[in-house]
Amino acid sequence: MKTKVATQRPIYLDNAASTPMDERVIEAMVACLSQEGTFGNSASKDHVYGWEAAEVIENARDQIAQAIGCSPLEIIFTSGATESNNLALKGLSYAQYKINNPRRTIITSSIEHKAVLESTEQLAHHGFNIIYLKPRTDGTISAAMLKEALTDDTFLVSISQANSVLGSMNDIDELAQITQDHGALFHSDCAQSNGLYDLHLAKSPVAMVTLTPEKIYGPKGVGALYLKKDLNIELEPLLVGGGHEKGLRGGTLATHQIAAMGKAFEIMAQEREQVIAHVSALKERLIGLLKTIDNAQINGYNEDGSTPHLPGVVSVSFKNIEGQYLIPSLRKVACSTGSACSSKELKPSYVLSEIGLDDDLARASLRLSIGRYNTQEDIDLAFEQIKQTVAMLTKK
Ligand SMILES: Cc1ncc(COP(=O)(O)O)c(C=O)c1O
Repeated sequence: MKTKVATQRPIYLDNAASTPMDERVIEAMVACLSQEGTFGNSASKDHVYGWEAAEVIENARDQIAQAIGCSPLEIIFTSGATESNNLALKGLSYAQYKINNPRRTIITSSIEHKAVLESTEQLAHHGFNIIYLKPRTDGTISAAMLKEALTDDTFLVSISQANSVLGSMNDIDELAQITQDHGALFHSDCAQSNGLYDLHLAKSPVAMVTLTPEKIYGPKGVGALYLKKDLNIELEPLLVGGGHEKGLRGGTLATHQIAAMGKAFEIMAQEREQVIAHVSALKERLIGLLKTIDNAQINGYNEDGSTPHLPGVVSVSFKNIEGQYLIPSLRKVACSTGSACSSKELKPSYVLSEIGLDDDLARASLRLSIGRYNTQEDIDLAFEQIKQTVAMLTKK
C-alpha cells in the first residue's frame, strides 16, 4: 500500500473547469443516498419510495426554473452540458430532417465548446450546412455578424452566453431576437454563466439553453436543457428507453445529482449578488496586479474594456516567454491554459488562435478562474508565483 504524503495543494484558480461543492449542496445530495433517504426510482409509480424520489426531482426542477425565470415544465434533465448541447443540436437537426423541413443551415461560432463544435461536425457529415462565425478580438459575436450570416435556409443558431476560455459574454437576447425574426431557433450553451444571472427566459426569445451546476458549486455529471414550451420544439431523442423526461431523454433520473443541482441553483439565485461582488473584486485585483508585469496582455476585452465579462475568469498571455514551460513551472497555482477539456492537447487553445493570438503567445497563456471560496490572500500569493515564473521564463 502506498503511504500518503502530506503535501500542500496549490491555490485553486480553475473554477471555470469545476468548482468545489457547497456543503449545503452536498447535504441535499447525501439525503438521497442512504436507506433512510430518497433512494427510490422516481419512475416507480407503485410505492412511496418512488413517489418521494419523484417529489425530490420536481422540487429541483422548480428550484432551477425559479433561478432562470422559466416554467419547470421547460426543464429536461440530462447527464451534463455536453449531453444538453448534443441534444439541442443533433436532436433538433434530426427532427427537422424527419419532418422534412427544407432548411439545412446551422450558424454557430468558431470558439464554442467542443461539445457544440463536434456536434456540428457530425451534422456536417450528415449533410447539414454549418456556418462558423469568427468572433471579434474580444471573443464576442455581434448582431451585425449574425444578421449577415442568416438566410432563409437557417433553422438553428447556437452561440454561448459566455466563452469558457476568455470569459467574454454575448448578448444572447439580442442574438436570439434576430434569429427568431428570421424564423430560426436560438440555442445558447450557458454552462459557464448559468446561475449567475436570472435569464428571464419566460420573456426571452432564446429557445433552448444548456445548463449545468458544476461551475456553481454543484456536482458534475448532471445538467439540463431548457426548451421553450410555447415554441413546441420537436427534438429527436438521442437516448431512448423508459420514456423519461417526456420521452426526450431515456434513463433513470439520478435523484441525488438532480437534488444537488436544484440546491446549487437555489443557493445561487439567493446569493448571486454577494458571490458576483466578491469574485469580481478579486478579479479586478488580479487584473490590476497582472498589468504590472510588462509583457502581460489581458485577453477577452475590447479596446475600451467594456466587453461584458464573467465575474471570475481572467485570460492572460505573456509576450516573449518560453510558453510551453509556463504551466509546468507554476507549481503553487492550479489553473489552465484553455478549457479543461482540451488541456491534454499540446496544441495552443483554438479559442486564443481564433481571436488572433499567434501560436507562441497562445501557448504562453493562462486561464485563471476565481470562485466564491477564493480569498484575497489566494490572489496575492498566486500573483507572486506567476510574476516570478514569468520573469524566469522571459527570453533574454
Ligand atoms: C461552455 C461549456 N460547455 C460545455 C461544457 C461541457 O461540460 P461537461 O463536460 O460537464 O458536460 C463545458 C465544460 O467545461 C463548458 O465550459
